[in-house]
Amino acid sequence: MKRLDEARREIEYLREQILYHDYRYYVLDSPEISDAEYDQLMRRLRELEAEFPEFVTPDSPTQRVGGAPLSSFQQVEHPLPLLSLDNAFTEEELRAFHQRVQRRLAGQPIVYVVEPKIDGLAVSLIYENGVFVRGATRGDGERGEDITENLRTIPSVPLRLRGENLPPVLEVRGEAYMDRQDFDELNRARAEQGEPLFANPRNAAAGSLRQLDPRVTASRRLNVFFYALGYHEGLELETHWQVLEYFKTVGLRVNSLIERCSSIDEVWDFCQRMQGLRSSLTYDIDGVVVKVDSLAAQAALGATGRSPRWAIAFKYPAEEATTVVEDIIVQVGRTGALTPLAILRPVEVAGSTVSRATLHNADVLRAKDVRIGDTVIIRKAGDVIPEIVKPVESKRTGKERVFTFPDRCPVCGAEVQRLPGEAVTRCIGKACPAQLVEGLVHFASRGAMDIEGLGPALISQLVEAGLVKDPSDLYFLDPGKLQALPRMGKKSIENLMAAIEASKSRPLARVIFALGIRLVGEAAARELALRFRSMERLKNASREELQAVPMIGDKIAESIISFMDEPQNQRMIQRLAEAGVTMAEEEPEDAPTVRPLEGKTVVLTGTLARYSRQEAAELVRSLGGRVTSSVSRNTDYVVAGANPGSKLTKAQELGIPVLSEEDLQAWLEE
Ligand code: IVH
Repeated sequence: MKRLDEARREIEYLREQILYHDYRYYVLDSPEISDAEYDQLMRRLRELEAEFPEFVTPDSPTQRVGGAPLSSFQQVEHPLPLLSLDNAFTEEELRAFHQRVQRRLAGQPIVYVVEPKIDGLAVSLIYENGVFVRGATRGDGERGEDITENLRTIPSVPLRLRGENLPPVLEVRGEAYMDRQDFDELNRARAEQGEPLFANPRNAAAGSLRQLDPRVTASRRLNVFFYALGYHEGLELETHWQVLEYFKTVGLRVNSLIERCSSIDEVWDFCQRMQGLRSSLTYDIDGVVVKVDSLAAQAALGATGRSPRWAIAFKYPAEEATTVVEDIIVQVGRTGALTPLAILRPVEVAGSTVSRATLHNADVLRAKDVRIGDTVIIRKAGDVIPEIVKPVESKRTGKERVFTFPDRCPVCGAEVQRLPGEAVTRCIGKACPAQLVEGLVHFASRGAMDIEGLGPALISQLVEAGLVKDPSDLYFLDPGKLQALPRMGKKSIENLMAAIEASKSRPLARVIFALGIRLVGEAAARELALRFRSMERLKNASREELQAVPMIGDKIAESIISFMDEPQNQRMIQRLAEAGVTMAEEEPEDAPTVRPLEGKTVVLTGTLARYSRQEAAELVRSLGGRVTSSVSRNTDYVVAGANPGSKLTKAQELGIPVLSEEDLQAWLEE
């Protein structure tokens, strides 16, 4: 009996904790514990519930995926109809709305609440005494589909509300949506599986919620923002703002960008500000919803037909448009990646003209089945490059041409290769001019060698004229030969030569970044420069040494090694060094000036008294040495501490000098 009581109490405690941390995470957006700690709470709760199934309740946080697949959705009647909104597309229409409201409220001061209009799908949820009991889609506004089991799987939908004295019945409304990034990932995975793609995050959210199997919904990353009160009993609130505040206290997630305005000018200002923010949000919005704050005023204003008189949606220009695919070409990037690109009949979308759109890779091209001549829906959301949503199949005439992905590089004709597990197809041609041009563009770019005036056009000319075959050639250019290039006068040549000269003194990190080693971005290059301090040491670094550097994992280490193994790259680095490009950087001030281990390979074994393994390795490096993990004929010294293992035996067998910690120390003090 005691044990049972204890278990019940612990279960209740864990549920309280989880509810609290959900609130911190989803509502306050300020978690107090790590994901691992949260998982720990869930794990313990699951354990206890497995042992004491009599305590499992439907509102337990473990019960997010319980339901079995349905054969169809039940229709349910909404306790109050879900209205829709009238739209305003211009500032005038927005101000006209305000005038109508003012007239009807006869001079009362009007406060508005302004909210981003989330581009998802409306859902209605009913809580009875704080417990989530039913959820439905909007449907026709009167009746929707019962999607309770699917809504339960969404982490930001509380299964139980927080706090005491919860109303006996509370219907809340909100927008279910999918973050753009989750949408991209979902589509990428679907393309890989050859499954049809979703056109946009809204369709992905709708498709995910209208799944008969809740386990499928659970696997999609959905989210909800709550924005309206529906039918309720036992709740006294005066303003919409208070409703939203109340939502937050009970654990219902509310959008953090919502504001209150006391004039239509402020409302208009918010609409413009939000439009500026639109592309940087993680989710799609299609406008701003403007609502009269006072609930009494709302009631007085009432509704006309399907929409309330107290609210309006200010709509932004669509981020989608239709146009025609005039051609599909394949571009070759710096790493040889082949990217299919659709050439479009230019069209205006969300304020700019779009004339090309990426098709990403062969999988996406196949999944979207875009053909030359197709009429397509394109979408430009967020900061991303415009994308083709899908072809409008009803517009096909039969004259469209299916594009076949090339099996040779369209630029150099070399073979292309697609490694297992990778989505990209690459040109493996060693002398591919496209790769060369892109590589040079990268080399000269702002974050790399920053060679002013050396842009893609000039680079293409240099490559076409055969003056540059790899980046090191830039430093050996003959100014006389540059005169033959179009638009290259004396002054431009002088400027270019000066810019190239200036780039020689860029810090080592930028030189490493400029090399264009696959997967080595600016941050990784900085870490590598910091750790190795010279190109020579980076070149000779072992896999283990590379992996010991922050940010450098398996794949990056592999990529560095294969880059450095390439004789062509070795020669290029050699020539960069000859030209006087930065190849090493000052040691930190306290570093020893004598470098008795310069060029030597050292293996550490056993426990040292004064240094950790990490510190000892640093020390060897500061003396100029290179640390490797296993003893071979190439090893110069083995440093042995207490309890050395087989490495010492092997060193003795091979006759490799063995040093003690003291020897190392003595060198340091020299
Ligand atoms: S309030 C009577 N607030 O827009 C007012 N709607 O065109 C009911 N929507 O069906 C809606 N964000 O799906 C409201 N912050 C927000 C919203 C919002 C998105 C959607 C909702 C509704 C549609 C109306």
